[in-house]
Amino acid sequence: MASPIYVFDAYGTLFDVHAAIGRHREAAGPDADRLSDIWRTKQLEYTWTLTLAGRYRDFWTLTADALDFALARVPSVDRALRPKLLDAYLVLDAFTDARNCLRKLKERGRRTAILSNGSAQMLDAAVKAARLGADLDAVLSIEAVRQYKPRPETYRLVTDTFGVGPAEVVFVSSNRWDVMGAGVFGFRTVWVNRTRAPDEYGKQAPTAVLPDLSRLPALDL
Ligand code: 2OP
Repeated sequence: MASPIYVFDAYGTLFDVHAAIGRHREAAGPDADRLSDIWRTKQLEYTWTLTLAGRYRDFWTLTADALDFALARVPSVDRALRPKLLDAYLVLDAFTDARNCLRKLKERGRRTAILSNGSAQMLDAAVKAARLGADLDAVLSIEAVRQYKPRPETYRLVTDTFGVGPAEVVFVSSNRWDVMGAGVFGFRTVWVNRTRAPDEYGKQAPTAVLPDLSRLPALDL
């Protein structure tokens, strides 16, 4: 069988979602990390609640709405930071292990892609800023199906784009719920447990668990 296609989640897996607050930590003050955690939690919550309700709003809108909630919840952070935090979110730093992993996979002739909740515009900006484009064969946004992960229609964007069956895909995400959804769809899955979180979703165990992406290419899945 041909070597698998390696498909990566973007935010949290390739890009550090907390790099936005990281660039403005001084100005944000002592509650910077609490703001960033609430921002991320609410951003994801909105994708799930709207999808369950049968509604779609793009990820950039939800990212801004989630930041507004976080700023209201953490009044010690100056609201004047809002535009700077949103600008920073468009150009989040890529994890170093992610950059090296993509390069190594391409050196081994592997096909690589992103499948993300991010809008095409957000992903284009992030991939360009991090200079990852040369090591990605495709950048897929769920906006094409107007539903968010872990809906099966989102993972089907991968099999449709590459014309392969689910078993020919290795899906890589730091988001355990995303790994669950990809596993249910039939992908082989790698959970990048960057935060050393306890496991969950027992029935849908990942194919492999790694602390970061540095050893993924050598796994030769
Ligand atoms: C992504 O889809 C889950 O936000 C994460 O990139």
